[in-house]
Amino acid sequence: MDATTPNDPRARLPAHAVPESIGQATVKVCLHKDCLVRGGEDVYHNLKEGLSKEEALVLPVTECFSFCKEGPNIAINDNIVRGVKPFLAVERVRQELRDPSCKADGLGSRSISDLDNVLDEIVP
Ligand code: FES
Repeated sequence: MDATTPNDPRARLPAHAVPESIGQATVKVCLHKDCLVRGGEDVYHNLKEGLSKEEALVLPVTECFSFCKEGPNIAINDNIVRGVKPFLAVERVRQELRDPSCKADGLGSRSISDLDNVLDEIVP
């Protein structure tokens, strides 16, 4: 089955080089204490059940993303998305994958490692 369209960059690849699925996202769900009490566990379970393996690998993490009061928070390919409602979590991830809301130079576009470095510079 050919899943490519004429505008799809994969259409220019030889048939044997086109992967079945490209762009599987990694979604990390903060289950640290503040996100946990704000519904992080429901977000995690809804994402695990609602997203296919081709769409995303959903991982529970206990590292805090440092936006605790805005939780529950998730990181989609290390871009942090805050205030995810459990019942809207699946659609929110799909929306972010289709049309990322993070600005190129915005805080949300930075990886968790980058944010750690920023915090290290601010807090000695
Ligand atoms: S507890 Fe989730 S961001 Fe801090």
